[in-house]
Amino acid sequence: MNAIISRNKFIHGANININMNENILNYETVSLDDKESALVILDQTRLPNEIKILHLKTQPEIWQAIYKLQVRGAPAIGVAAGFGLYLAAKNIETNNYDSFIKQLYEAKEYLNSSRPTAVNLSWALNRLEKIAVNNSNKSIPEIKNLLLAESIAIKNEDIETCRKIGEYGLSLLKDGDGILTHCNAGQLATSKYGTALAPIHLGRERGLNFRVFCDETRPLLQGARLSTFELLADGVNTTLICDNMASQVIKNGWVNFIFTGCDRVAANGDSCNKIGTSGLAILAKYYGIPFYILGPTSTIDMNIKTGRDIIIEERPESEITDLWYQKRMAPEGIKIYNPAFDVTDNELITGIITEFGIARPPYSESLKKIFEQKNAGLSR
Ligand code: MRU
Repeated sequence: MNAIISRNKFIHGANININMNENILNYETVSLDDKESALVILDQTRLPNEIKILHLKTQPEIWQAIYKLQVRGAPAIGVAAGFGLYLAAKNIETNNYDSFIKQLYEAKEYLNSSRPTAVNLSWALNRLEKIAVNNSNKSIPEIKNLLLAESIAIKNEDIETCRKIGEYGLSLLKDGDGILTHCNAGQLATSKYGTALAPIHLGRERGLNFRVFCDETRPLLQGARLSTFELLADGVNTTLICDNMASQVIKNGWVNFIFTGCDRVAANGDSCNKIGTSGLAILAKYYGIPFYILGPTSTIDMNIKTGRDIIIEERPESEITDLWYQKRMAPEGIKIYNPAFDVTDNELITGIITEFGIARPPYSESLKKIFEQKNAGLSR
């Protein structure tokens, strides 16, 4: 059932127009096939060599897809979790509300255990649970329909949110600017545009040209495999560097801004993102380059006071020692530490770009204001 579209080779270079029929930006990162009762994702572990679309029907398949990063990036994980929990609800066979809500809660907890750091996972699951709890007076088929609508709303909002983040980010840039980015916070990490890459994609729509440097992002290479791929597909002047080359590129004077995404932002602005991000922020401070975090308010966790309270995912040792090598490249028995994320201290961050504007230090005040604005909109 899984469709595979093979690509012959990865195209290197800048400003390349890729045949529109094969343009990765034309593929949905995450969608729902309600008729088939399947979560449909682009398998990101295969990119850039193969565009493989997976139809996931069981909860263990969906859990594995999130854990293995077949779908990844905080907003995309949230969208996948929303569709995933709707599919779980759809399969619950009972007309008894108490039994339904108990099974829904179990399914929610199960999906929530797939990855610990990106708050969008629990945020999306909580949104669906709330719908089921607040509509306990309705029939089970009616509740299932409401859950379907909510999961679709999460995706649609993600597109709109990313576009707004892109607009705010773009307002800082001028044609020809050099931007350094880490991991993939692009369309492949969201439903459209991305967060850190949204200003670049929007800028392209308006005929602007930027020069983007992508850190390869050890150990899972989201920068090398994904950001470069989607930026080339958009005709962006893109250069791939190893993570340890960032300071040289900055010193050369090629970088005007550093833009990265985020997986969880604490109320004081401490921002957790892909491992390696905080080192870039330290470099940015040393060289006087503005360092911006771009993310939706769904990634800001106002329940967490500082970055110290954020759970950092640790991943298998084999990602470092074996994954990209024909033969294991490190001695057997060597101790390995493989944290997937780090926290950038708020004082290193020039601004946090959300769909409600750009928060500036002190973040404990500016983020609170952003949420007041958001909540006022919701209650209108
Ligand atoms: O482990 P990943 O690939 O899910 O990590 C992704 C990141 O760190 C992104 O920068 C973040 O989720 C923001 S995506 C818009």
